[in-house]
Amino acid sequence: MMRVLAISGSLRHDSYNTALLHAAAEVAPEGLELVIFDGLREIPPYDQNGDAAGAPPAVLHLRRAIEDADALLFATPEYNGSVPGVLKNAVDWASRPRATTVMQNKPAAVIGASTGMFGAVWAQQDLKRILGLTGNRVLDLELSVGRAQETFVDGVLADHELRVQLREVLEALEDAVRKREAVAAARLAGGLGPERLRRPAPSAAAESGGRSSGDRNGRQGRPGGGVDVGPGLLKAALDRAPLTHEDLELAHVLVASRPASAIMRAPWSRTAAISARRSSM
Ligand SMILES: Cc1cc2nc3c(=O)[nH]c(=O)nc-3n(C[C@H](O)[C@H](O)[C@H](O)COP(=O)(O)O)c2cc1C
Repeated sequence: MMRVLAISGSLRHDSYNTALLHAAAEVAPEGLELVIFDGLREIPPYDQNGDAAGAPPAVLHLRRAIEDADALLFATPEYNGSVPGVLKNAVDWASRPRATTVMQNKPAAVIGASTGMFGAVWAQQDLKRILGLTGNRVLDLELSVGRAQETFVDGVLADHELRVQLREVLEALEDAVRKREAVAAARLAGGLGPERLRRPAPSAAAESGGRSSGDRNGRQGRPGGGVDVGPGLLKAALDRAPLTHEDLELAHVLVASRPASAIMRAPWSRTAAISARRSSM
């Protein structure tokens, strides 16, 4: 099961952005679990001294939730043309310590709702820029719900088109996670190209001269070809480096994914716009 941590930038009880995340949970594809983070209010103002001494429990809770997730989905309101302070504050905490930040290479998508006409587009832009700086792999897409007070009925997103677009955002995140995992697995398998990954693997016993299965790095030969890697090794590889252009080429071969153009064909509506170009990841 793939896990997406959803973070709303609003503390408001009847927040449209939180409602947008609940709608996302309802339309999530099978095999994708959307977990809505509920600890934003408890996170104290960022304090570098406090961080050095050991982060407060609420921050550890946030960092752990991010670490446990395969990807992040942010829904941000727009306050005075930018990201609400509480959300920026949480991202600042999550970005530290810089060398080991849980944000590093984590795929992230940003959506937003506001009562203004434009659906928090400036806040989304700013948040994407910030997440790029914190090391996230930010998907180049946008879903903007303007005039949210007219779009949500009793806190429920009824607009069918928007629900379709929300699902497409989740599918894009799913796609990004799969590609990163495939590439990380390939890297762990010794920088193997697609040819080697498809080739039937020799039996583990034959490879090891009959002594044991798996090599000294814990990699296991998989009957029928390829190499299985444990989740620990996979995570280490995921955290290690950004994907290069060559990695993405390889990912396309390894993962049977929807073409990027599918999401670019998503229709426009008065209240929402979605566009997705493959991010450079
Ligand atoms: C301090 C503050 C600043 C705001 N600035 C903007 C803004 O720049 N653009 C905008 O479209 N809406 C702005 N709004 C209105 C918000 O879009 C609206 O309150 C929205 O419902 C907040 O999101 P939420 O429903 O998730 O809490 C602002 C609201 C507040 C409280």
